[in-house]
Amino acid sequence: MMDKNNLIAKLYNLRKEITEYDRQYYIQNTSIVSDFEYDKKYHELLDLEAQFPELYDPDSPTQRVPSDKILSFKKSAHNYPMLSLQNTYTIEEIIAFDQRCRQLLPNQEIKYFVELKFDGVSLSLRYINNKLNIALTRGDGLTGDDVTLNALQIKDIPKLIHLPKDFQVNEFEVRGEVFMTRHNFTLLNNKQLEANLKPFSNPRNLTSGTLKLLDSNEVAKRPLNFFAYYLLTNDTQLISLQSNAHLLETMGFPVNEYSKLCNSVNEIKQYIDEWQERRDTLPYNIDGLVIKINSIEQQQKLGYISRFPRWAIAFKYSAEQAETKLLDITYQVGRTGIVSPVAELEPVELAETIVKRATLNNEDFIKENDFRIGDYVYVEKGGEIIPKLVGVNFEKRSPASKPFEFIKICPCEKQTPLTKYPEESAYYCLNPECPWQIRKRIEHFASRNAMNIEFLGEKSIDELVSLGFLSNIADIYELHKHKASLLKLDGWQEKSINNLLNAIEKSKTKPFINVLFGLGIRYVGETAAKILAKEVRSINNLMELSTDDLRKINQIGDKIAESIVNFFANPLNIEIINRLKSYNLIFHAEKDTDNNSISFLDGKTFLFTGELSSLTRNEASNLVEANGGKVFSSVSKKLDFLVVGENPGSKLQKALELNISVLSEKDFLDLMNSQNIKELNEQHFDSATK
Ligand code: IVH
Repeated sequence: MMDKNNLIAKLYNLRKEITEYDRQYYIQNTSIVSDFEYDKKYHELLDLEAQFPELYDPDSPTQRVPSDKILSFKKSAHNYPMLSLQNTYTIEEIIAFDQRCRQLLPNQEIKYFVELKFDGVSLSLRYINNKLNIALTRGDGLTGDDVTLNALQIKDIPKLIHLPKDFQVNEFEVRGEVFMTRHNFTLLNNKQLEANLKPFSNPRNLTSGTLKLLDSNEVAKRPLNFFAYYLLTNDTQLISLQSNAHLLETMGFPVNEYSKLCNSVNEIKQYIDEWQERRDTLPYNIDGLVIKINSIEQQQKLGYISRFPRWAIAFKYSAEQAETKLLDITYQVGRTGIVSPVAELEPVELAETIVKRATLNNEDFIKENDFRIGDYVYVEKGGEIIPKLVGVNFEKRSPASKPFEFIKICPCEKQTPLTKYPEESAYYCLNPECPWQIRKRIEHFASRNAMNIEFLGEKSIDELVSLGFLSNIADIYELHKHKASLLKLDGWQEKSINNLLNAIEKSKTKPFINVLFGLGIRYVGETAAKILAKEVRSINNLMELSTDDLRKINQIGDKIAESIVNFFANPLNIEIINRLKSYNLIFHAEKDTDNNSISFLDGKTFLFTGELSSLTRNEASNLVEANGGKVFSSVSKKLDFLVVGENPGSKLQKALELNISVLSEKDFLDLMNSQNIKELNEQHFDSATK
């Protein structure tokens, strides 16, 4: 048994780990753990948080619905919240789900509509007067990205509808999954490879990336498909998922042919087993089945808890595993100097691919699992996600094996001693001249979301750094001076050099946000770069700010502030910036970048009391914070707004005494939709007390 302190330490570690997974997943569109592993950790954290309620933290990943607010799509509110599904991996959990439903619907016949769980991206389509009006991504569940222009490019999505006689409504919404078939994915990836570009990692990431392209002409080039699985309207009472599926089909939506009505857990189990065998024969990826109560009336009775409906559950096939030998542990050095261990494996077939390498995260992960070179290890791959080592087959361990020792010196030729910060599990190489970091820094600067320099990919950067033509990002803009020398090298023709030089020239027009992001200041990701460009306006202003000044900027925390100040304290970085300035890169915000909603609440403070009906307290808090506001835990003079749900507590009385503005739930949602705090400041809201 672990003692209390260990459990608490575990809780904090899980919060950190899961936050990082969420960040990777939602911000960088990559998964570094399998879904199975993620869910296991998430549930472990939920259990620990239930054991230690005093450690409640609104910032815990269990309290958040991570939002996808990165690219500059217009945000729009969902008419009905877009919820997620609770995941399960065992039949026992399905039995428990069935029992819960039966308890809440006593003496009623229950039928389940069981559907395939498509491995794609959910999309909500609103139709008004028979016409597609808006297409929204899930976003944070309450507000999504308006991707209508992109949805118009998807052939499967009907743009005009003929309503059947028995469904005459003015407005309705259809929810479903956008996905790409494996065949189309392979075709596109072949093209990518032919063009010497990095291949896409899997059909789901490619689908999600495509939906978020700002250029809908590009979307048209990538064949996406759609399956409709949910119909919503206020204009008439719907009967069942089965009849809705039929209605959707009549209206011209693609509806999956394999949905099945099941009367018992036994039938569900048989269907789960059947698809476990058959899933590979489908032309698209599925990662499980979704089990839903068929009757809409029963669904409405069951309602929702937190962000999940009580009437549906997802059964996920756990990731495939294989056993293989751990031949070696090698290292990669990232652009910020993080040294990451990589498992070199005896090649093994897993989920139809040959796996040779897998991620090992960091030293702690290796120690916790006691991975040793020569061990037989289990490697897991969920869908097409990067493989990961999940355990050791200790029975096969050689008695001569020794615990693994993480390197203490950078693997590059400069051999710099590595640094480890307290509180962090990673090792860093802090030598700015480390050639491995230089490569990664240049890759980052040239990457799509930064300066988007076409033809300057991993391979050419590797060559140009090795040949000594590039030692830092500023050298990119002097490459033209080496044209003659490059021409003498194998594989560098006039045309490819010109393409590269033109792309470099073109990058000089990239706005300040991209340049700032491209500089690769630690912790300054796209969102932070956006905020800084908007608030600070120019690199010269930014350089003059102290950590205290920076901390005052909304959403800029201690870590980012310190990192920025450290970056500018380094004369090498200043020299690079001065050089980049001399090549006419843009170092000031040209026009007002204030077209996104990042900080429209601008430090306004909120407190919630009573039960909210359309969203949970945590979702509401997330919404406030995501828009630059703060959430307080008690009433004080500094509080700007008290949001009152049903059965409010004593906070309401206190707020009224202090003359603090009181908002009803509807006022609050309207505010979040209108995004107009100024208007709100001028009015006095007291509707909740009327
Ligand atoms: S129903 C409240 N049905 O799985 C109902 N979702 O883990 C929520 N998904 O966000 C969705 N196939 O992107 C539903 N047949 C299906 C699905 C499905 C795939 C995805 C969807 C959702 C996620 C939840």
